[in-house]
Amino acid sequence: MGEEMINPSRKGNHSFLTSFFLIFLFSSLQFQLSTSVKVEDFKKCTDAAFCNRLLGTRDEGYYIDPASVQFSGPSVTARLLNKAKGTDVTLTMKAYKGFVRLLVNEDASKKRFEVPGVLMHDLGSREAIWSKKAQTAQSLLLQLEDAEMQLQYSPFQIGISIKGKPVMSFNGRQMFNFEHLRQKQEGDPEGWWEETFKGHVDSKPRGPEAISFDLEFPDTQHVYGLPEHATSLSLNPTVDLADNATSEPYRLYNLDVFEYAPESPFGLYGSIPFLWAQKLGVAVGAFWLNAAEMYVDVGKTEEGTFTNWVAESGILDLFLLLGPTPAKVSEQYAQITGATALPQYFALGYHQCRWNYRDEADVRQVDAGFDAYDIPYDVIWLDIEHTDGKRYFTWDKSLFPDPVKLQEDVASHGRKVVTIIDPHIKRDPGYYIYQEAEQNHYFVRDKDGKDFDGWCWPGSSSYLDMLNPEVRAWWAQQFALSKYKGSTPNLYVWNDMNEPSVFTGPEITMQKDNLHWREVEHRNLHNLYGALFHQGTAEGLIERGKAVYGSDADRPFVLSRAFFAGTQRVGPIWTGDNCADWKHLRVSLPMIMSVGIAGLPFNGADVGGFFGNPDAELQTRWNQVATFYPFFRGHAHLDAKRREPWLFGEDATRRIRDAIRARYVLLPYIYTLFRHANTTGLPVMRPLWYEFPEVEATHGVDDEFMLGPALLVSPVLEEGAESRAVFLPGKGPWYSARTGEPVKPDAGGALTVPVTMDSVPSYLRGGHIMPLRERARRSTAAARKDPYTLLVALDSEGQASGDLYLDDGSSFAYKRGLFAHRLFSFKDGMLSNQELPGNPSPPRYSTDLVIERIIIVGLGHPAKSFSVKEVGTGKVLQTGAGPVVQEAGVPELALVIRKPELPVTGDWSIQLSVTA
Ligand code: GLC
Repeated sequence: MGEEMINPSRKGNHSFLTSFFLIFLFSSLQFQLSTSVKVEDFKKCTDAAFCNRLLGTRDEGYYIDPASVQFSGPSVTARLLNKAKGTDVTLTMKAYKGFVRLLVNEDASKKRFEVPGVLMHDLGSREAIWSKKAQTAQSLLLQLEDAEMQLQYSPFQIGISIKGKPVMSFNGRQMFNFEHLRQKQEGDPEGWWEETFKGHVDSKPRGPEAISFDLEFPDTQHVYGLPEHATSLSLNPTVDLADNATSEPYRLYNLDVFEYAPESPFGLYGSIPFLWAQKLGVAVGAFWLNAAEMYVDVGKTEEGTFTNWVAESGILDLFLLLGPTPAKVSEQYAQITGATALPQYFALGYHQCRWNYRDEADVRQVDAGFDAYDIPYDVIWLDIEHTDGKRYFTWDKSLFPDPVKLQEDVASHGRKVVTIIDPHIKRDPGYYIYQEAEQNHYFVRDKDGKDFDGWCWPGSSSYLDMLNPEVRAWWAQQFALSKYKGSTPNLYVWNDMNEPSVFTGPEITMQKDNLHWREVEHRNLHNLYGALFHQGTAEGLIERGKAVYGSDADRPFVLSRAFFAGTQRVGPIWTGDNCADWKHLRVSLPMIMSVGIAGLPFNGADVGGFFGNPDAELQTRWNQVATFYPFFRGHAHLDAKRREPWLFGEDATRRIRDAIRARYVLLPYIYTLFRHANTTGLPVMRPLWYEFPEVEATHGVDDEFMLGPALLVSPVLEEGAESRAVFLPGKGPWYSARTGEPVKPDAGGALTVPVTMDSVPSYLRGGHIMPLRERARRSTAAARKDPYTLLVALDSEGQASGDLYLDDGSSFAYKRGLFAHRLFSFKDGMLSNQELPGNPSPPRYSTDLVIERIIIVGLGHPAKSFSVKEVGTGKVLQTGAGPVVQEAGVPELALVIRKPELPVTGDWSIQLSVTA
C-alpha cells in the first residue's frame, strides 16, 4: 500500500528563499519595538519539511507481525513493520491505573532522543495488569478496569472503549508514520538532509526522523488543551470534512512572538502536548511526551473529532488518559508529570511590574504609592534595566546603588522584590558568569562545535546548556547569597526569553542543529529548554533557602515565560507579550484555562496588556478579571505610559483598589485551591465544563469561568458594556456574590444582567462554603494573623461544604505534615469544622486564629431572629435579629453570625436556629 496525500492544500513547495535575512540581523529587536507580529517571520506547516511530508499523510502499510506479539501482565510488545518503507520498530503498550502508555521506538543503537526529567519517578508504582480477553491471528483484546483496548494487527490500529462505548482510536485513519533513521543516499528527496527558512540553513545531519499519528474521539465535539495558543478553549477545526486545510494546524514550538495575534493557532512561548476530549459523560486525554517541534490538525465530523499529530524527531511516547471525569483526567496527568508546586502564600497576592522601575527612588515611590492609596500588593518587580548592561546577577550601580537596603526596606512592609534573570549570557570575558561558563564548556554549541553566539538584549550572547545536569547545578549555585551580590532572602526571580529567544536566529530562536550535552541536537529538546532553565533557577532558590532557613527551606518563586509538561512542579508562567486591547483581555481567559487544564494552573496574563496604553475603562475591567487569575501581575512595556493603579483617575483608582482587595479577600480560598492543585492536579481557574461536564451547553463556553468549584465569574469583556449575558449551568441554586440574592436564569441557564463599571457579575454556587479574609491590609504578610470569614451558600436541601488549607505559607514544612486542612459542613442548621478525613487529627499545624464571621446565604427568607449554640456544651454563642442590614461586602440577603470566635484549626459544631 502506498502513501496517499489526503491534504494537498497544505502541501507546497518548500520555499528556499535566497533571503536578505542577514541584512536584518538585528531587525527583530527593532521590529519588537515598533510593530505587531510579523507572521512571515514564522514558519507555516508548509515551511517545515517534516510537517509538509507527514501531516495529513496516510499510509496503510503499517502492520503488526502477529508472531511477535508478547504479552506479560503489565505490558504488550510487538514488532511494527512497514515493508514499503523498510520500517521495523517496536511497539510497547503498558497498563497503568487509569491510563495506557504507547511507546514506539527503534532499537537503542539509534539513540533517538527520549525526553528526560518530565515523568514522575514513581510512575512504575502505578503500573497495572492487563487481563487478556481474546487473542486471534488478527487482533488482541485486553481489559484494564472499565476500559477495553483492542490492538488490530493489519492495518495497525488501536481502539479503546470505556464501559463498552468507544472513546478513542489510534491510527483509525492510517496517519501513523515513523521515519526510521537511515543513511544518506543519492536522490533522497529535497528537505531530508537540509532545509532553509529565511536564509537560515538547518543542516539536519540525522536526516528525516519525524513521527505522526492520528487519534480519533468518537461522538465528541470538543477538544481542548495543547497550549500555548491565543485561541478559543474548544479548539477550532483546522481541516474540513474533505480533509482540506481550513487554517494552519496548531503548532507547538516555543517562540518569542511579540504582540501575538489574539485568534491564531500560532505556537507561542510554551508547549504542552496534552489534549483533552470531552463528551457527555466521558472526559479523556492524550499526552505525547515529545519536546520537538510539533503540529496538530483538528477535524470535526458528525461522528466525532479527529486529530492528526506530527513531531520532527524523538520517539512516540503517548499516554492515553482514561478519565472518565475531568478531575480524574487531571489526576492521571498529575500522576504522570507531577502536580503543581505549592506556591508561597505571598505569590498569590498582587504583583506590580513594569519594564522598568527606573531606580531605587522610583521603586520606593511606587511602594509608598500603594500605601498612600490603600491598595494591597506583595511584590515589586525589576526588569532588565536594573542590571549592569544586561549582565544578570549584577546591578546598575548608578540606578541601584544599595539594592540590599532597598530590598530590606521593601521587606519591612512585608513585601518582596523580584529581579529578572534571562538565559542569554553576555559574551563579555570580564563578566564572571560568562567567564566561568565559558571555561567549563557550559554553553550550547553551534553545529561546528563552537560556543553558540546569538543576539539578545545584551547583544552578542551565549546560551547555557541546561540539558547538562552539571550546568543546572552550577547555575543553581549562582543564586547563593554569597554569589549573587546585592541579593537578599527577600528576592525572588523571573526567567524570561527562555524559549530561548535569539533575535538573530530562525524564527527568533535557536538553530535546530545547535548541540547540547552528549551531542544532542537542539531540535530534540527545543520545547523543553526553557523548562530546564526554569528548573535550574528554582533549584538555586531552594538551595539558597536551605542555607538561610535550614532544611525546611523556603519555597522558590520563579516566573517563567517558556514552559513544557512538568513546569507545574517548578513554578508559574505568564502568557507573554499581549496588548492593551479588548481582544487580548478576552483571549486571556481561554489561554489561562487551557494552560491550567494542561496541568499548569499557576499562570496569568499581563494585566492591562504589555504593549500599548489601556484607557481607564480597559485597565479597570482588566483588573476586575485578574482578581481571579491564578497569577495576578500588572506589567507594561518600556514605552508604555505609567500604569500604577492610581493613575487612571479617582473612579478607576477606587475600582482597581476594589478589584485588588477582592483578590486578598479570596486568598484563603485560592490558596486552598492551590493545595488541591498540589495534591491532585486540579486547575484553579476552571472551564465551566470542568465543573458541569453533564451540561453539554457548557462545553463550548470560555468567556466565563469557575474559580474552583464554588464561584462562577462572568466578567465584563466588552468596551462600553451595559449588560452581560450570563450562563449559569446546572440546577443551582446560584446566588449573586454581591447581594446574596438567589439568581434565577431561564430554563436553559441564561440570563442577562445590567452592568455598570463597578459590576463584576459573579455567582456563588449553592452547596459550597468559601473561606475568606475580609480585613483590608497592605500585603499578605500584614494579614497573616487575621481571622477568617466563612461564606456559606446553601443548596436546595439547605446543605453546603467547603474546605480551608493552612500552613506556614512559605516553607516546605508542610511536606513533613505540618499543615491543617479543615472541612466545613453545613446540614440541618448545624455547621461543623473537622480535619479532612484521612488526615491526622488534630492536625500537626495549628493556629490560634479564629472564624470571625459566618455569612449564610440561601436560607430562603430573611431571618427575624436566630440563635447559635455550641453543640456538646450547649453554650449559646449568639442571638440576633434579622434581616441583617447590608455592610460593605456582605450580601444583603445573608444571615451574618458575628464574632463567633471559633478556632479555625479546632473541631467544633454549632447549631443555628432561625425564626422566619
Ligand atoms: C520580554 C518579556 C517582557 C519584558 C521584556 C524586557 O518582552 O516578555 O515581559 O518586560 O522582555 O525584559
